Amino acid sequence: MTRSIGIDVGGSTLRVAEVDLLSGHAQEGMQSIPMPKGAQPDDVLTVLARALERYDSELPVGLAFPTVAQHGYARTAANVHESWIGLDVQREFARRCHRRVLFLNDADAAGVAEMHFGAGRQLAAEVAAGGAAARRVVVLTFGTGIGSALFLDGELWPNTELGHLMLPGVTDVDGEGYAAASVRTRLALDWPAWTQRVNRYLHELHRLLWPDVFILGGAVSERAEEWMPLLESPARLRPAALRGHAGVVGAAWAAVTDRMAR
Ligand code: BGC
Repeated sequence: MTRSIGIDVGGSTLRVAEVDLLSGHAQEGMQSIPMPKGAQPDDVLTVLARALERYDSELPVGLAFPTVAQHGYARTAANVHESWIGLDVQREFARRCHRRVLFLNDADAAGVAEMHFGAGRQLAAEVAAGGAAARRVVVLTFGTGIGSALFLDGELWPNTELGHLMLPGVTDVDGEGYAAASVRTRLALDWPAWTQRVNRYLHELHRLLWPDVFILGGAVSERAEEWMPLLESPARLRPAALRGHAGVVGAAWAAVTDRMAR
């Protein structure tokens, strides 16, 4: 199978596209659907099942979601309605859309896409050409929250929730409450003020994990030129190459390779 469908559910937008798994490209006509008010399971799954009607019925679908996704179940709900917790989303969505479904965390989806088709692939090529080692890679997505995907030698440790790390000296909010892209918008921070926060977050992650490279993604990576030069990090920094498409591409990829199910 060289095609499948990826869905990336974000705090405000649901993205749906057919993906060519040889190139890692989302096909023309990606759907961007506003998150139904309240982000309740029944509403979201109804809208998504409808969005799938236009695609070949044989194609499996990967559903990337901003929760811990374990064996098909949603286990947390930081930025969606709490009634998702404990729901067998994989089974419920398969029942509604009559397709094979893989349910996974959104940052894990973005991470596997970057490692397979994007910035991680470029890193691997550099290492092969004699460049510095990049065995430990942390992919971060900055959006409504902060998502994380941890890789050692290309293998994912799924469902890391490093956006919820507490930063030394910041007591009122967690890492994502302090440095997510949504915080920049909500507090009307300029790039230097926001990147100072991101720097603090990266330093804490580095102090605990000592990665070789951070790959920084999420919708804000569309504007990487404006803020990435302001970052300071003890680990190398790379912008996500797939930008806003990583979640959709990774979800579609995982639906076929099925590597996150366990
Ligand atoms: C959630 C994660 C998710 C991240 C990015 C966090 O609030 O807990 O599961 O990956 O947001 O959407």
